[in-house]
Amino acid sequence: MAVERTLSILKPDATRRNLTGKINARFEEAGLRIVAQKRVLLSQAQAEEFYGVHRERPFFKDLVAFMISGPVVLQVLEGENAIARNREIMGATNPANAAEGTIRKDFAESIDANSVHGSDAPETAAVEIAYFFSGLELVG
Ligand code: CMP
Repeated sequence: MAVERTLSILKPDATRRNLTGKINARFEEAGLRIVAQKRVLLSQAQAEEFYGVHRERPFFKDLVAFMISGPVVLQVLEGENAIARNREIMGATNPANAAEGTIRKDFAESIDANSVHGSDAPETAAVEIAYFFSGLELVG
């Protein structure tokens, strides 16, 4: 297994309910290291570009509206097999399908307000990390 980096976003439902520390503890307890982190309010243009792959999907408008409805925490997580490991810890996209003990099972409110985003593959992780962070901001 290789050491990887993945982009993580703590979504507006998580910041609104003051859950960032609880969610970060899940990552750290699972062996992932937060090597970059910043709290920002995304613009509509940034959210639309970041989720551009979903532009034609029926949920795109609601997704973008939700992602700009409050602050998010952008993070880079590092660790062995970090991309798949983070997806395991997060659980299924729809919290109704998420396994016991996962972040989305324990914290998510709905499929949009599902508390966290994580990159789904090495190529997307590289693009997503570069979208929000410069190399200087990643401190492993
Ligand atoms: P995320 O991992 O951030 O990637 C895209 C987001 O779109 C997803 O989490 C969900 O919050 C949201 N979404 C809303 N409806 C759907 C859907 N039917 N399928 C996938 N993602 C959806």
